Amino acid sequence: MANFFPRWANLMPLKIAVCLGAVGAGVVAGITYYATPKAQRVGYQPTQPIHYDHNLHANQLGMDCRYCHSFVEHSGHANVPTANTCWNCHSSIKKGSPKLAGLRDAMAVDENHAPLQDADGNAVEGKPIKWVRVHKSPDYVYFNHSAHLNRGISCQSCHGDVHKMEKVYQAESHSMGWCLDCHRNPEKHVRPLEEVYNLDYDPAEYLEENDVRDLDNNRITEPEEFGKFLVAHWGIQPKESCATCHR
Ligand code: HEC
Ligand code: HEC
Ligand code: HEC
Ligand code: HEC
Ligand code: HEC
Repeated sequence: MANFFPRWANLMPLKIAVCLGAVGAGVVAGITYYATPKAQRVGYQPTQPIHYDHNLHANQLGMDCRYCHSFVEHSGHANVPTANTCWNCHSSIKKGSPKLAGLRDAMAVDENHAPLQDADGNAVEGKPIKWVRVHKSPDYVYFNHSAHLNRGISCQSCHGDVHKMEKVYQAESHSMGWCLDCHRNPEKHVRPLEEVYNLDYDPAEYLEENDVRDLDNNRITEPEEFGKFLVAHWGIQPKESCATCHR
């Protein structure tokens, strides 16, 4: 039990519940599964310091999620980009726009992109943009992005149609029951690895355009059958034991 919950100090009830063993765990899991309000955080849409628009950048301009969320593929943690990433383009695009004032503050430049100075003429330091976190699991939950993305689960399954969002909101509950629903039925979500970052993926269309064969060399045409095939083919078996997500 030692490393079960690294930050357990304020979580005694949870730890005790797990230590009660199989019966207790079953009851707790049951309560959590059925009683935690699913819609608790769905729709949470905080106002951000800069009105950054995913629909414009990801959908209309066609930018890949990984251009900005560059760690997701290789790390447990998904990063939000630093101001420098925005500056790659906005040092020249829409230079003086009032909508980019927060970005210029972060880069310590004025509307004309001259370095900011204080009254004594000393250079002023930039302040990092304070993006407001939208999705946050409790500290006692272990989650890992790359483990999902590299197994054919798309951002879309967990974050919704972010590429169509002018302002990001939470689309899925991220409750324990929600995690387990997919761990029990991953075939509804698994897609070919090259489609994980394509939020316009349509399995029926994919099967029309690609000749995918099962082990008996029969062509797969049904999305449902395709999901099951990928799960079996890759040996995907998401775990349901408590220690998978609480360690
Ligand atoms: C040009 C950079 C850029 C691109 C490209 C981009 N994002 Fe983002 N993303 C951001 C920034 C900045 C934030 C933080 C501000 C916000 O929430 O709007 C963010 C926030 C998010 C969040 C919410 C994070 C939280 O706080 O919980 C999700 C989820 C997300 N992006 C998913 C995606 C997906 C999926 C794609 C690809 C379709 C994508 N992003 C493409 C810059 C980008
Ligand atoms: C690959 C280039 C590129 C990157 C990187 C990029 N943008 Fe943009 N951004 C654009 C383009 C192109 C437009 C549309 C300009 C237009 O409407 O003519 C735009 C428009 C905007 C606007 C609206 C400006 C206005 O006056 O209408 C904001 C705000 C903005 N971007 C914020 C950001 C932020 C914040 C980041 C970093 C998280 C970022 N952008 C990263 C290319 C980029
Ligand atoms: C299997 C579900 C799942 C998938 C797939 C997934 N995410 Fe997440 N994402 C989460 C959860 C859960 C959190 C909250 C994690 C936490 O609090 O530690 C999160 C948090 C985030 C955050 C906020 C991180 C922060 O520290 O501010 C960003 C950004 C993000 N995800 C982007 C993405 C992008 C981009 C993709 C696809 C390339 C993606 N996610 C795929 C479940 C998922
Ligand atoms: C849309 C489907 C889906 C959702 C939602 C989902 N998972 Fe998973 N999860 C998977 C798949 C698929 C795997 C990979 C199983 C394998 O490799 O056999 C996985 C693996 C994992 C692993 C093992 C990673 C490792 O390091 O080995 C953890 C931990 C995990 N998930 C936690 C979570 C948590 C916590 C949530 C909810 C916040 C969640 N998952 C939601 C599908 C999902
Ligand atoms: C696939 C990942 C996953 C597995 C497996 C898992 N949990 Fe959880 N659990 C979560 C997540 C995510 C939360 C946080 C839910 C939330 O924030 O609404 C959570 C929350 C909890 C809570 C707090 C409930 C509350 O409402 O505050 C308890 C207690 C708990 N889990 C016990 C268990 C036990 C016991 C097991 C084994 C039977 C288990 N969990 C297996 C993901 C998981």
